[in-house]
This record gives sequence, structure tokens and C-alpha cells, in this order.
Amino acid sequence: MTTSTDRSFAQQQDAADPLAPLRGRFAWDDPSLIYLDGNSLGMLPLATADRIAEVVRSQWGGGLVRSWRDWVDLPRRAGDLLGEHLLGAAPGQVLVSDSTTVNLYKLARAALDARAGRRVVVTDDDNFPTDRYVLAGAAAERGAQLRLLHTDMDSGVTAESLAAVVDDSVALVSLSHVAYRSGALADMAELTRLVHERGALVLWDLCHAAGAVPVELDTCGVDLAVGCTYKYLNAGPGAPAFLYVSAALQEALRQPIQGWFGQRDQFEMGPAYDPVPGIGRFAAGTPDIIGTAAVEEGVRLLGEAGIGRLREKGIRLTEYLIGLADAWLIPLGFELASPREAARRGSHVTLRHPEAWRICQALIRLGVIGDYRTPDRLRLGPVPITTRYTDIWDAAAAIRQVTQDKAYESYSADPARVT
Ligand SMILES: Cc1ncc(COP(=O)(O)O)c(C=O)c1O
Repeated sequence: MTTSTDRSFAQQQDAADPLAPLRGRFAWDDPSLIYLDGNSLGMLPLATADRIAEVVRSQWGGGLVRSWRDWVDLPRRAGDLLGEHLLGAAPGQVLVSDSTTVNLYKLARAALDARAGRRVVVTDDDNFPTDRYVLAGAAAERGAQLRLLHTDMDSGVTAESLAAVVDDSVALVSLSHVAYRSGALADMAELTRLVHERGALVLWDLCHAAGAVPVELDTCGVDLAVGCTYKYLNAGPGAPAFLYVSAALQEALRQPIQGWFGQRDQFEMGPAYDPVPGIGRFAAGTPDIIGTAAVEEGVRLLGEAGIGRLREKGIRLTEYLIGLADAWLIPLGFELASPREAARRGSHVTLRHPEAWRICQALIRLGVIGDYRTPDRLRLGPVPITTRYTDIWDAAAAIRQVTQDKAYESYSADPARVT
């Protein structure tokens, strides 16, 4: 895609965009808002607001406990839909449950126990904090150790660097498919193959990947995966996460939270834990029905758009943003802190600048919402289903203006002092 710095180019792209009508399916209380933070909290689909109202008013308010007849399978139904449209997973392998953090713990502990002779867990030192903390805790509980692979903050994990740290003491390798800071996209097929060649299991964090890039869990032979639903899946703040366990592994794994929702003949209220066969054994307690209904709606909408078209537009939006950054922002002291090659990038672009924090605050005041990530990164997440090319042009122009005019100087330089 050639970059023109003329705004009319963006207008032409919007006019030809096959996904453009889907923008109207979201709540836009402020139509002038430029929202480039859907990789943190996705927008509200109008269908989700209606569905939640229906679940609350009719199913809860009217049906009360009788509604459990419909609710009881919802976490698996929503999981299968997610598997079909966005994760490349055949039915019976995805469950909507708990948070990403809790699911990581359940699967990491189960994997460690399944590779009893091996006492090392590998992740990278730039992986998302909760992943590093949970893996360290799970390893410590099992007398294992966490081995941290050093990764370049901007370019992500490579096969060469991973090969150097995975030996026959490794039980589990856990990585993010799309890096939260830079957007670097790991090669899932190649890295999974490498881990398997060395006899370990692999657990992918899909938080910044699900709904943004095509994921092929079955085809790549992935063992385990987790991810959240409040980013690109637009299921809302605190909506339940998902987990994937390949059919081949399910019977061999025992998860550590022996809750009654994973129990065989649950309402027999039996004396001892005896997990159901299949993905249901990775459930723990009572599922969040309102949140899971929102996951189902969010996935339906993305399914309608099609992950192929979403990815294509995600690449075009991020390429356009990088092109405008090259033309306008690099001369002002910004550096690209994401992979330049589209095939190695998810759907967000990160720019490095010593004043990233204050620039981010000044932009929010102007109605251009991105976010800041340590140590000096401005993270911009165009979301293919809602972001227009003109939003990218307007955001880049606003960043240029704020930086040129030093309009950020009226904001505190200390991120810790401002919420
Ligand atoms: C890559 C990644 N993993 C894990 C998490 C944590 O998810 P949760 O707080 O929902 O458990 C996040 C949250 O943003 C994330 O971006």
C-alpha cells in the first residue's frame, strides 16, 4: 500500500472499505471520538447491549433459576463459536471461563504435572506481567523453576532465541502470540513445532491476537491456549476469558482448581472430585452468564465480518499509520517500536518517544484515545471493525500537532502521579 499524506486518500479508502457498515453496529455516544484502544477495551456492540438487557430482564428477572436450562451449556457454546470463527479449533476444545490469569494458572499447573520428569517452565522476559507472575508461582508450587528468555522489546520472540533455551528439562513453554507492547506477531506454527521437537508442551496467550489475526490452533498442533474477550472480541470490562485444550490432551490433564462445575454428575453432590471427560473438566465454579452472553455476541459480530477481511484491513490500517509516522512523526523524534513487516505484526503499532506519556495525555484531551506503555511507548491500536482510515489520518495529524507545538508540556511528566 503506497502512502499518500493527503486526507482525501483516507476518504477514498473508507469509501471502498467493505467492513465500513459494521462500524454502525457499535455504540458511538461521541461520533467524533477517535478510539485506538480497542486492544485494551473493545467498544460496545449494540447487539450486546440488547442481549445483556434480555439476559438480565427476561432470563434472570423472569426465568430466575429455571433459566439455568439454557445457561448451563453457554460457556461451551460460546467456546465452540469462538473456536470456529476465530481460533481454528474444532468443537469441544474451547471453554469460556474465569479470567486469563486464572486460566493460565489452571493450564500451566496441569501441564507441569503432565510432564513430571521435567522441572523447567520457559517464557520470555517481555511477556505480559500476569503471565510471568503466574508461571513463576505455578513453577514454585511444583518445585520447578521459571527460565526467562531475553526478548527484544520491539521485535519479539524468534525461533533461534527460543531454541537456545528449550532443552529436555523443559515441561512447558508459554508465549504470547502478539506481544502486548510492540504488537510483534510470533510464528505460532514454527515455535510450536520447535517446542514439540524437544518434548515440551506449549501454552499460547492469545489476548492481543484473538479477533485481530487468524489463529489456527488445531492446524498448528497447539496444546494449550488462553485469551481474554474484552479486547478485540468486544465483550466488555471483566468479561470472562477463554481457554483451549487440544482434544488429544484433555483426558491426560488434571487442573488444580477442583471445582464442582468440572465434576461428573455435578448434582449428585458426590463425596470426591471426579472430573468430567472433555473440555468441561477445565471449568471451576459458576460461570458468569451475563459476560459469557456478551462473548457470544462479540464473536458473532466478528464472525460476520470474517477474520480474513479483519486481518486484511488490520494490515492496511497499520501500514497506513506507519507510512504517516514515517512522513510526519519520525522527523519529530519518534521511532517505530513495532515490526515494520506486516506479516510479523498484529493489529497495533507502537511509537517510541521520550515524551510518550505526556503526548498520550494531550491526545486523550483532544479525543484521540491510544495508550501509554512503559518505558516510553505510545501504543495505537486500530481496530479493523470500527476504525476508519480517516481516523488514522486524523490521529497522526493530532500527534504531529501536539508534538510540534509541545502541547504536552502542560501535563505531568510522571505517569505515577496522574491516573
Ligand atoms: C497479553 C495479556 N495476557 C494476560 C492479560 C491479563 O488478563 P486478565 O487481567 O483478564 O486476567 C492481559 C491483559 O491485558 C494481556 O494483555
